[in-house]
Amino acid sequence: MEHIPPEIDPDWALVLQRCVDWVRLRYRLRWVSLHGASHWARVLENGLRLAASNPEIRRDVVSSFAVLHDSCRRNDLIDPKHGARAAVLVQDLSQQGLLPMDTDGLVLLEKACRTHTGGRIPEVPTVMACWDSDRLDLPRIAGVEVRVEWLGTPLARESAFVEAATRRARAKVFPYQHIFNP
Ligand SMILES: [Fe+2]
Repeated sequence: MEHIPPEIDPDWALVLQRCVDWVRLRYRLRWVSLHGASHWARVLENGLRLAASNPEIRRDVVSSFAVLHDSCRRNDLIDPKHGARAAVLVQDLSQQGLLPMDTDGLVLLEKACRTHTGGRIPEVPTVMACWDSDRLDLPRIAGVEVRVEWLGTPLARESAFVEAATRRARAKVFPYQHIFNP
């Protein structure tokens, strides 16, 4: 079956691309790795699919979360501060003019990044969609399944949605390569 991810507005794709380019210069791990660019690309797809289901979910926030949430990792194992570092990076990118987003969006994005590892549902829809989009890609790790009880948005909890995300994760699908330039 052909894989067609949701489209991204070209202007916003350029914003994401500039953030990715900035992050890449400083990224400490292999670019395509467990927590690297192909994971971010699948998180981006998951987030945009969730955003399409609910107008309360902000596309700019979920898409920025996808490219930033793991960008400050220092290892692929235990790095409990990587979410907090990503939240600081959100402010940095905003102050540099690389992340054009209103204050409400920045607050949501910082929260989603800072708390994505252990964030508890329920939360506001945009933050839950960020966390869900990441958690739906856990099956990229051999032997790991999605835990539906950790998901917050109604669409993410549907079995067909979980199965499709699981297939993409297991197949290491890498969408939006024009943004991530593997
Ligand atoms: Fe992640």
